[in-house]
Amino acid sequence: MVEISVAEEAVPEEGVVVVLAGADGNLSAAAAALDGEGVVSRALGLLDGKPRHGRVVSLPLPAGLRLRRLLVAVAGKPEGLRPRDMEELGAAIVKQLEADRVEEAVVASPAGLDLGMGEDAAIAAMALGAELRAYRFDRYRPGEEDEEDGRKPLARLRFLSGGPAGGALARVRGLARAVAWTRDLVSEPANVLYPESFARICESLSEVGVEVEILGPADLEKLGMRALLAVGQGSAHPPHVVVMRWKGAEQDAPLALVGKGVCFDSGGISLKPSGGMQDMKWDMAGAAAVAGAMRALAERRAAVDVVGAIGLAENMPSGTAQRPGDVIRAYSGKTIEVINTDAEGRLLLADLLAYVCERFSPRAVVDLATLTGAVIVALGHERAGLFANDDGLAETLARAGEEVGELLWRLPLDKAYEKHIKSDIAEIKNVGRGREAGSIAGAVFLKQFVGARPWAHIDIAGVAWSSRDLPLARKGATGFGVRLLDRLVALAFEAR
Ligand code: BES
Ligand code: MN
Ligand code: ZN
Repeated sequence: MVEISVAEEAVPEEGVVVVLAGADGNLSAAAAALDGEGVVSRALGLLDGKPRHGRVVSLPLPAGLRLRRLLVAVAGKPEGLRPRDMEELGAAIVKQLEADRVEEAVVASPAGLDLGMGEDAAIAAMALGAELRAYRFDRYRPGEEDEEDGRKPLARLRFLSGGPAGGALARVRGLARAVAWTRDLVSEPANVLYPESFARICESLSEVGVEVEILGPADLEKLGMRALLAVGQGSAHPPHVVVMRWKGAEQDAPLALVGKGVCFDSGGISLKPSGGMQDMKWDMAGAAAVAGAMRALAERRAAVDVVGAIGLAENMPSGTAQRPGDVIRAYSGKTIEVINTDAEGRLLLADLLAYVCERFSPRAVVDLATLTGAVIVALGHERAGLFANDDGLAETLARAGEEVGELLWRLPLDKAYEKHIKSDIAEIKNVGRGREAGSIAGAVFLKQFVGARPWAHIDIAGVAWSSRDLPLARKGATGFGVRLLDRLVALAFEAR
């Protein structure tokens, strides 16, 4: 993993140095100082007159010079620049350094270049982007090199600043670590990460001041979480629930974050086809995002009272598995006909949502779940589906998403869709009408378990994992949701 630091130092005369230049040809002070022979301007010239934001030119320097390589990173016009753009610039620098197989480099201060934000803010954003982009899940691939793409992990990256900048780094470090932790959890295979081991890992949150309570199968039985238990009843790994609480302020009622943690979703008796089934190890990404958000909030000592609850189960076919046609009585008392055992996330969340609402009377509830393949049909991998019974909560979530680059798109939840989940034998059934409005059917099902409480459901099936490199994440687990929830809290739930 890359070690990122910020130092109040002058630009070194050796090694690999990155300087910033504006798309309009303006140079940072450090770039101007190095431009004695016109080398920076010449580098910009290599961009065919298109020095767009985020482009990075890399020049190997002739032997004999102490400076080994010079990179020029282009920043766009100050008017339109958001912190998000500076994160992407930091990430683009890492991407180029990896392609150059550089192990250690220095990014000179952007001072002197108008970025429309302070030096501190710009460096913090670049450092965050760099750290997120440099993340790799390498646990089972010892050896430094990634043969697949010929890139080499960067070991050390130092951002130079004109003044003390440790504060900027501290602000982003906790967040970057929380996202990395979530990505680790999402990436772990299901033979390593199963309900009990996931719950144990969450206990480490007590080190940052989060209270952690684990409910095992006997507790869940006693509570009557029959729907959640039914999902896991075919597995050798029994279900668990983890309830986390970060009490960074005294508030009338907590915010509740709820996550789907299906550690492996085979479909159960309604078995999935084998092609691609390995992806279902990350059907716990909602739970991992909630756990990561709790870590992020605790790391920055957020002034908020927040509960994070995750439901952990493995959906497997076996002689003890639930069957299509089974009728279960959920924690809330509602009866559910299980038409398809592969629609398991909503069963698990039904009990967890009802339990959290009853036990904590939260101000608002937000759940994250890899709930439906249908949301990928609707939105692809660009945005997560947002459903809410409260316009204010929906708008704040959408805004938080825009700010951190975890985009949402609201889909409807009209009463009319409730008839899609009517059952002939029970109060509701766990699927809608085949290919019609599949994600909405899932959301409308969940809505039955939150009463009138402000609630939002985010279907992250399309965004939790990426089969391609993204600006801020190599292919694999994205950690989607951690930054979104952290920003949601900052925008609307912190005590002031
Ligand atoms: N975990 C899946 C949804 C999913 C699909 C997540 C693809 C990530 C990528 C969920 O449990 C599921 O199987 N949903 C079914 C619901 C259907 C049976 C009503 C689906 O989407 O097909
Ligand atoms: Mn499923
Ligand atoms: Zn699932």
